[in-house]
Amino acid sequence: MLYFVLKTLHLISDFLLIGGMLVNAFVISMVPPTIRVGVIQSLRKYDRTVTTAALAGAWIFGLWLAIGYVGFSGGWLHAKFVLVILLSALHGMQGAAMRKMAADPKRDPNAFVRLGMPIIMICLVLIVALAVIKPF
Ligand code: HEM
Repeated sequence: MLYFVLKTLHLISDFLLIGGMLVNAFVISMVPPTIRVGVIQSLRKYDRTVTTAALAGAWIFGLWLAIGYVGFSGGWLHAKFVLVILLSALHGMQGAAMRKMAADPKRDPNAFVRLGMPIIMICLVLIVALAVIKPF
């Protein structure tokens, strides 16, 4: 029973994390400088509370599942770790980019942060395929 509760909490955290990161990526790369500041200020509050908490939840419940039930021997989990570390780093960089853009709306972030939307979507497809199919 606890296993299913943990998996449910893990998946809820994953959905909120990916949703929040996609909104961050949209605002960073597609909202024009003239209206950026207000949008970023409201989004940063949401990011700090919901998306950051979801990232913590994804890690806590994911590691709990691995330690308690699944083990660390699967190659799929190692590959998933690489992608999840990449997403966690991107989330940190999105926060820093939004802070700088709120202070100076003409400033553009680096290419990795600017390409957030496709990076997040590709990671999502690969992570879900690895976690569900467990191909190796
Ligand atoms: C943050 C670090 C993460 C760790 C340590 C982790 C680890 C795990 C573990 C151990 C499982 C259990 C697999 C099983 O019971 O067979 C799992 C399930 C799952 N994870 Fe993660 N995960 C993480 C992040 C993510 C993210 C960010 C996503 C989605 C974008 C995700 C998607 C899934 C899915 C869809 C499942 C369900 C697989 C199934 O029941 O068939 N995980 N995860």
